[in-house]
Amino acid sequence: MTLVMLERLGRRVSEGPSGIAGDQAGEDGGVGAEHAQANGAAAARTGPILSLRQAAKAFGAVHALVDGSIDLYPGEAHGLVGENGAGKSTLVKILGGVYQPDAGDLVIGGEPVTFAGPGSARAAGVAIIYQEPTLGVALDPGRPARGLSVADQQIVEIAKALSLEARVLVMDEPTAALTNVEVDRLFNVMAALRRRGTAVLFISHRLDEVFASCQRVTIMRDGRFVQTAPADELDVDTMIRAMIGRELGAMFHKTEVTPGEVVLNVEHLERENVFYDISFAVRRGEIVALAGLVGAGRTAGSVHLLGKPLPNGQPSAAMTAGVAFVPEDRRQQGLVMDMGIDDNVALASLARLRKGGLIFRSAERKLAVTWAKRLQLRYGWIHSAVATLSGGNQQKVVLGKWLARQPALLIIDEPTRGIDVGTKAEVHRILDGLAADGVAVLMISSELPEVLGVADRILVLHEGRMAAEFDRADVTADKIMRAATGQAVKDAA
Ligand SMILES: Nc1ncnc2c1ncn2[C@@H]1O[C@H](COP(=O)(O)OP(=O)(O)OP(=O)(O)O)[C@@H](O)[C@H]1O
Ligand SMILES: [Mg+2]
Repeated sequence: MTLVMLERLGRRVSEGPSGIAGDQAGEDGGVGAEHAQANGAAAARTGPILSLRQAAKAFGAVHALVDGSIDLYPGEAHGLVGENGAGKSTLVKILGGVYQPDAGDLVIGGEPVTFAGPGSARAAGVAIIYQEPTLGVALDPGRPARGLSVADQQIVEIAKALSLEARVLVMDEPTAALTNVEVDRLFNVMAALRRRGTAVLFISHRLDEVFASCQRVTIMRDGRFVQTAPADELDVDTMIRAMIGRELGAMFHKTEVTPGEVVLNVEHLERENVFYDISFAVRRGEIVALAGLVGAGRTAGSVHLLGKPLPNGQPSAAMTAGVAFVPEDRRQQGLVMDMGIDDNVALASLARLRKGGLIFRSAERKLAVTWAKRLQLRYGWIHSAVATLSGGNQQKVVLGKWLARQPALLIIDEPTRGIDVGTKAEVHRILDGLAADGVAVLMISSELPEVLGVADRILVLHEGRMAAEFDRADVTADKIMRAATGQAVKDAA
């Protein structure tokens, strides 16, 4: 459903009444994508449509944004990158009129503006797709977003933004919940918008996406503007260095583990319209990756855990049996937003923290602080509500919560979604360490480098059926791609 919607949106945009700006570059500030792609000089001549200068925003003692500065040009896609907590979403919320900055200037179409609220930003032609889909719901109270998958919610937001005929479209991590095919479609929509003369601001932790879709890039660190440069003058290493202020640490090292007893055994699993006849096992010390899975509904049918049948659809039974499940949609299923970081992390480990019926706050805090450190969490106080954390830092809290549990089986869906490059490697190290300690890990991931780097065995699904199984030793990205798109099957036939 989401694919169809995006496709339709793409068509609508390119057919739109003002959709021909690309062929008439120079008129009305509409600059052709091709020109912008060449070097951005054509765009620069027309001047920015939106300019934010040294915006600052603090929440009590937390300086979320110290120097937020960016220039957006018509007909150009501009990437914004930085670590979790760097201040990207805070900058976005200032552009959207959600936050009033403590200092700084905003100029749109040459005129200084102050937004009293989201309404004035919309009136000025600024459309925003927020990182947390719920933030955008106020735009259209008639449509309840609860119950939709993350991807669907994002699509709804994109549709809303496009329907506003915006001069500036801001997308805060729109691809985090999309499949690769949907990401490609989104890039087509972005290109169509650029041809129409729209300025696009695109935020992503996947740097390859930034290079694939943006002509200019701004890097932020610790709430501050660091650098803006044309994309073709940057490379991944330079970008990462500017983002984290140092070289990225040593490469991930995979520990050799001899797999032990079977922890999870799945046989002939089926779920109508989702998957068919799936059988596999995960042993102690093994990391098995599921690749090529698309869409919702990853629940299990007949599953054996440590030799015992697991009742279908009973998460609590699974938890008691030693399963930790890190869901894809972490905000809805993983966190209690108004509870502290410490309480959220401790939630899955209460049995272990309980002594004679009492849960010691100090033990809870210690556990949370330990995991916060390992995951490089950026926070004010360990008992601050997780609602005050940046999107990526909330993801880290969910990870910490389940990793701290020391499960027999860890099922982890998209382990590093929304997590910055600096911490990704640490998450991979943690998974490696858990396997070395004898945990059985089942990982669902759409990121090929992650699958290749972390997994011992890779199961590839195509149209809900097991298309191929690879060993770490003889797998390549190409083999996975071919199997996931059904080519391996065709070749064999
Ligand atoms: N309402 C708030 N109250 C307190 N602190 C906040 C609030 N909103 C943001 N912060 C803090 O400001 C900092 C910047 O957050 P922001 O959401 O802008 O980061 P980000 O760059 O978008 O990160 P991510 O990549 O994880 O989404 C973070 O340390 C965050 O905890
Ligand atoms: Mg953010």
